[in-house]
Amino acid sequence: MGKDTVTITDNSTGKTVEFPIKRGAHGPAVMDISTLYKELKMFTYDPGFLSTASCESKITFIDGEKGVLLYRGYPIEQLAEKSDFLEVCYLLWHGELPTRKEIADYRHQINHHTMVHEGLRDFYQGFRRDAHPMSVMVGVVGALSAFYHDLLDVHNECSREISAQRLVAKMPTIAAWAYRYSRGEPFAYPRNNLSYTENFLHMMYSYPAEEYEVNPVAAKAMDLIFLLHADHEQNASTSTVRLAGSSQANPFACVSAGVGTLWGPAHGGANEAVINMLKAIGDVKNIARFVEKAKDPDDPFRLMGFGHRVYKNYDPRAKIIRKQCFEVLESMKVDDPLFEIAMKLEEIALKDEYFIQRKLYPNVDFYSGIIQRAIGIPTSMFTVIFTIGRTIGWISQWNEMITEKVQRIGRPRQLYVGAPNRDYLPIDQRK
Ligand code: CMC
Repeated sequence: MGKDTVTITDNSTGKTVEFPIKRGAHGPAVMDISTLYKELKMFTYDPGFLSTASCESKITFIDGEKGVLLYRGYPIEQLAEKSDFLEVCYLLWHGELPTRKEIADYRHQINHHTMVHEGLRDFYQGFRRDAHPMSVMVGVVGALSAFYHDLLDVHNECSREISAQRLVAKMPTIAAWAYRYSRGEPFAYPRNNLSYTENFLHMMYSYPAEEYEVNPVAAKAMDLIFLLHADHEQNASTSTVRLAGSSQANPFACVSAGVGTLWGPAHGGANEAVINMLKAIGDVKNIARFVEKAKDPDDPFRLMGFGHRVYKNYDPRAKIIRKQCFEVLESMKVDDPLFEIAMKLEEIALKDEYFIQRKLYPNVDFYSGIIQRAIGIPTSMFTVIFTIGRTIGWISQWNEMITEKVQRIGRPRQLYVGAPNRDYLPIDQRK
């Protein structure tokens, strides 16, 4: 065993510096280069953070080679089977599984924060009815800080906890109302006798004119989807929330930045893109053509729901969702031709040398849309559902960041490749 350092020599000056290696509980070690600039007057260059750990975290761990995902050390498969979304929210925020009393209190707290300020209702009227619900989410979530500014002190533990509970609790209300607004339908208020997920389905589908009964299969499947999306370590939206929070901005503002980031098709928007792709394929006989397009370096088309920056193996969440697809479709008696296309596409892609070589497997988004379609969720709401699930991850990561001993604003450096220093040119001398 060598020393726990890495030695770097700048060949242009001959200066040699040793940097400490830090080891975590799992995963690759990291080289601590925080003094690199001081020592060598040099930055590191790593666009897209391919080799850069941006923080220490105790929340979530992914082993992308083995296809492992742990929330606070617990395997996702065990949580999916034995836990539920709100218990996982408690776990992610507090770090430990709750006792009976703790979870009962937590459920009560969340249930009693589901209403939103009446003034926030008026916000919806300002949006076009045909706006994408994610655009409404970005606006309304950001606006929360204008309505709940009583507890925005980010250095006060109690304020942070209440803001976190408000975010988790209100997100389904905000999301369901975005959907109802797009349809010109009345908003349904939350009901305290329903569970978190039942409440969401109630606000999505109940009408004042008739009784609505939540389908337990739909509620269970939706809860699982929330649970599987709850956190995923330092992904693009979570890193955005942390970076925004490093300026000491309030948690609602930071989470709305996360919502905006999640919307992109390379991130949470992929679940919507998968369904659009499966519809465009239309028939199993067209799959080969689409696979060829995905492999063509001159064609920007990619198989949506395939590939992942970290997973170089089957995404464990995709395995769980795939299994759940069979159960939901069967018990809800839904025959979705897109499921057949998805399974055939997966089978063909997994045998194809291009995908094998690049270790491209289905990710969480590949099958989640199929379940959501069976439940009756419109495609444009898929990323919104992802937002509801991920809120606890964002806010827990934000809380971890804001309670670090040393507070530093996130401020990446750059390799400047623009025009060198030059003198201002008067307008009559310009060509
Ligand atoms: N279809 C075809 N080729 C692909 C795909 C795909 N879905 N994904 C990656 N590749 C190829 C890519 O062209 C590249 O090939 P080459 O080495 O010949 O240039 C190679 O695989 C590596 O790809 P990359 O873009 O360098 O990988 P990345 O880690 O930067 O990107 C990704 C990861 C998820 C953005 C990408 O795989 C992708 O665009 N997938 C489709 C969108 C998607 O499903 N996103 C959801 C991600 S999971 C949920 C979430 O985290 O939000």
